Amino acid sequence: MFDPSMSEPCIQPNPAAEKQRGGAGSRQNHPVKEILYRLRDPEVVADTAIRSAAEAWHLISPSEFSSLYRRVRRHTMCSPARLRALHQGVKYVVQNRLDGDLVECGCARGGSAALMALTLRRLGQRRDLWLFDTFEGLPAPTADDPDYEIAELFTGSCRGQLDEVRELFGRYEVADGVQFVKGLFQDTLPLSRLDRIALLHIDGDWYESVRVCLETLYDKVVPGGIIQFDDYGYWKGARKAVDEFLARRGTNLPLKRLDYSGRSLLKPGA
Ligand SMILES: C[S@@+](CC[C@H](N)C(=O)[O-])C[C@H]1O[C@@H](n2cnc3c(N)ncnc32)[C@H](O)[C@@H]1O
Repeated sequence: MFDPSMSEPCIQPNPAAEKQRGGAGSRQNHPVKEILYRLRDPEVVADTAIRSAAEAWHLISPSEFSSLYRRVRRHTMCSPARLRALHQGVKYVVQNRLDGDLVECGCARGGSAALMALTLRRLGQRRDLWLFDTFEGLPAPTADDPDYEIAELFTGSCRGQLDEVRELFGRYEVADGVQFVKGLFQDTLPLSRLDRIALLHIDGDWYESVRVCLETLYDKVVPGGIIQFDDYGYWKGARKAVDEFLARRGTNLPLKRLDYSGRSLLKPGA
């Protein structure tokens, strides 16, 4: 994810990026200028301020969500607003007795997934939770990512190791029913035994990653099930993949705004 709170990487014009773009770069397209431009976007500034306030609040609030947030916050890049939506999503599928597993594509160090598992346990429920990731960090973006110049700087970042994530789930005693699937979504999703999905969290940042998740898994989401997107606001490729997919399906489904970047939708037909 493009996280404005991350320290700015040291960026030099990259020949590979220029080649992908199919031409010489201009100063307007220089990644440093683009990052600075985005950080000045009033919506990003407001979102960062709201996020900081929420992070502070959840450190002291006695609410159920806040207590779970405090357990996972060091293991996640997701904002409190997006984590809260996952928390509510898990409760929603349980309370509405939706059939199906919980799935996260892009778990990194496991924080958002652990939040889902801890929420399930609080509800006294057991469901399979599938976690898909390279566990080697972000793959390279492709020419389909409109912000390729910035995106490719993050290749290999957001890395969570499989052992580290397993250890986290073991320590929280929520590893039962968790399927860890290592590899590229493109390779692992089509081969998985996944059948019915109640809640799908797509947090893969790039166009191709989000596209393959939707193409492979959307039809497995049960009517009334939830699909949550982490990167719709931060990464243009993620947004493009979602918009293209929904347009291709002829669905005009409203995306619910969670914060600057997060969106969710309810699959119709319940
Ligand atoms: C922003 S991180 C996920 C953050 C995580 N949900 C959290 O709680 O912090 C994105 C993750 O998606 C994974 N990823 C992106 N594209 C992928 C792909 N095509 N195949 C497998 N993993 C992918 C990366 O390895 C990375 O761990």
